[in-house]
Amino acid sequence: MTVLVVATSNPGKLTEMQAHLAGLGWELALKPEALEVEETGDTFAENACLKASEIALATGEWAIADDSGLAVDALDGAPGVYSARYGKTDADRIERLLHELGNELNRDAQFVCVIAIARPDGTIALQAEGVCPGRILHSPRGDGGFGYDPIFYVPEQRLTFAEMSRDQKRLFSHRGKAFEALVPQLSQLTLS
Ligand code: IMP
Repeated sequence: MTVLVVATSNPGKLTEMQAHLAGLGWELALKPEALEVEETGDTFAENACLKASEIALATGEWAIADDSGLAVDALDGAPGVYSARYGKTDADRIERLLHELGNELNRDAQFVCVIAIARPDGTIALQAEGVCPGRILHSPRGDGGFGYDPIFYVPEQRLTFAEMSRDQKRLFSHRGKAFEALVPQLSQLTLS
């Protein structure tokens, strides 16, 4: 099996990625803890490619990275690529977002995810994007998931991400949709 280094230190993301890549013939390995890539890009795609590429080059193996975040319409797309840096903890980030949104009536938002896979030489082999539209609640609901999950409500499911089972979130989330686009392309990759 070919090793695929997962370029994340976020355990929530790792669990979701493992579920999506199970049974596809890759041996998943965690990136070395000390290896941190600064997210200097202005877009999710730039950051995903940067992380996959640098981790592949540093380890000499294939690498997969995702960059994701929440874009809130009434905040001109914030926190966007700064979603992880919006506060120190998940609770801080949620509190800041709810404070900035205040009583704004337009609560529309999208979770966006771009996944990139890099070859051992750092070149990008594949890239896929997934978007999940939803709304920001006035207060958190549900205990599952991670990050902004408790305030992100998906109207078609009538649930927040934090109220969904893992399988439900896998199906409907931005990451799920990005993997849905990526997986068929994965089987056509030439592993050389
Ligand atoms: P990054 O992709 O490592 O830059 O992190 C993106 C940040 O967006 C995470 O730290 C979370 O705060 C948030 N995020 C990304 N995906 C999700 C998700 O599925 N649920 C909740 N928050 C998420």
